[in-house]
Amino acid sequence: SRYSTLYEYHFIKEQMSWDAARAYCRENHTDLAKVFDLTDMTRLQDSAQSQTEAWIGLYNITGGDNRRWHWSLPGEEYTENKTCWRAGQPNDYSANPENCVMTGDTWEDYPCSDKFQFICYDGENMWTLICFFTSVTWTQAQNYCRQHHTDLASGLNQIYSEKFKNLQNSKASKVNLWIGLFRDSWRWSDGSNFSFRYWDMDSFNDGLNNRKCATTLLERSGRWSSAGCDQRKPFFCYDDKLILIRENKTWEEALNYCRQKHHDLVSISNSEEQRWVQERAKNASTPFVWLGLRYSCSLGLWFWVSDKLVCYERWASGGKTEDFNMSAAMTTGGQHEWVSQRENETFNFICIKH
Ligand SMILES: *[C@@H]1O[C@H](CO)[C@@H](O)[C@H](O)[C@H]1NC(C)=O
Ligand SMILES: *[C@@H]1O[C@H](CO)[C@@H](O)[C@H](O)[C@H]1NC(C)=O
Ligand SMILES: *[C@@H]1O[C@H](CO)[C@@H](O)[C@H](O)[C@H]1NC(C)=O
Ligand SMILES: *[C@@H]1O[C@H](CO)[C@@H](O)[C@H](O)[C@H]1NC(C)=O
Ligand SMILES: *[C@@H]1O[C@H](CO)[C@@H](O)[C@H](O)[C@H]1NC(C)=O
Ligand SMILES: *[C@@H]1O[C@H](CO)[C@@H](O)[C@H](O)[C@H]1NC(C)=O
Ligand SMILES: *[C@@H]1O[C@H](CO)[C@@H](O)[C@H](O)[C@H]1NC(C)=O
Ligand SMILES: *[C@@H]1O[C@H](CO)[C@@H](O)[C@H](O)[C@H]1NC(C)=O
Repeated sequence: SRYSTLYEYHFIKEQMSWDAARAYCRENHTDLAKVFDLTDMTRLQDSAQSQTEAWIGLYNITGGDNRRWHWSLPGEEYTENKTCWRAGQPNDYSANPENCVMTGDTWEDYPCSDKFQFICYDGENMWTLICFFTSVTWTQAQNYCRQHHTDLASGLNQIYSEKFKNLQNSKASKVNLWIGLFRDSWRWSDGSNFSFRYWDMDSFNDGLNNRKCATTLLERSGRWSSAGCDQRKPFFCYDDKLILIRENKTWEEALNYCRQKHHDLVSISNSEEQRWVQERAKNASTPFVWLGLRYSCSLGLWFWVSDKLVCYERWASGGKTEDFNMSAAMTTGGQHEWVSQRENETFNFICIKH
């Protein structure tokens, strides 16, 4: 995977209840496994040593309304925006919970088992939105888009793009389309908001309240199901390779600390890694965290301490100053962009482990 350097999976053969498995992972690794996308799912399966059913770190919070909205496309974060919804929506209007979203002019929640046409997003570079004119359930639409394109259209940039509007306006009357927005009460053990779900619709029924813990069915291409948390099963842990050090140090001190106690100061070579690092940066006590990126005045260029080439950049506009004793730091809040800082400033920092 493009970011397998940042976390790895471990399959534990010993059979335990979900809670015991979680305690095991937290003591011996980082936590029960979480899954960001299909690439992760493949890595998870590759690390398995048998074809059984095994726990993952997903569980259902019951009691009260704990549902949270998510975009189907991994990494697209949901932020509340009232202007997108039709007045009075979302409203759980029907007898069934309305956990999926359809758009005409504005958004409305509907039961996921209802049937609508839908709209797929076709990849980061192509920005093609593809409309399908067969009415299907939300999950069928999601499966179709993931199999033939990238995902259901997700995020405001896609849904309010010219392409989307043009597609919708090309019809005589505006069609109602499923978009990639859904809500559920499932959570990851480590508190991440990963939106990826991979349910096996033949065995999973999100209405059976006694099955609150999620498993992966390794003999059914890894698809997920749920089981009573007291059952004993093998499980997957993950090891996080990043560690936030909540101490205030100059850039040089931070570098030495990471190299002595772990492996190195973190470097970032693609958007997935950026996303992963920014999750960690959110918990810092300083407004910036140091990255392993330094400006060499004599060479006139930026370089990663890991010797990787700088081929991915995420500078804040106006944030890049090329001068003596400058290194890069990520902003802890906001867009988590990079800004150059004098190396004698003291910030928290992120190390990468062995
Ligand atoms: C951590 O792993 C060791 C060795 O496998 C095991 O004995 C111990 O019980 C584990 N910790 C927990 C909390 O299960
Ligand atoms: C909310 O959505 C509208 C589109 O309906 C967009 O123009 C606006 O910028 C969004 N607001 C925020 C705060 O994201
Ligand atoms: C997950 O989302 C919730 C609500 O949107 C937010 O309060 C929480 O901080 C998020 N957690 C992380 C780890 O980003
Ligand atoms: C998950 O919890 C919600 C309540 O928060 C409940 O409506 C739903 O049936 C539960 N699903 C499973 C599979 O337990
Ligand atoms: C964030 O920091 C607080 C305070 O040190 C800690 O209790 C919490 O577990 C941390 N959260 C994560 C996700 O690391
Ligand atoms: C680091 O600095 C921040 C302010 O920039 C401060 O709030 C925090 O307490 C400091 N942490 C330590 C461990 O000194
Ligand atoms: C850069 O930092 C070194 C000490 O680390 C100092 O000797 C030197 O004067 C600094 N250069 C500038 C231009 O600030
Ligand atoms: C860092 O060094 C610069 C000069 O190189 C100096 O002006 C500044 O006050 C120093 N900042 C701190 C926090 O020591």
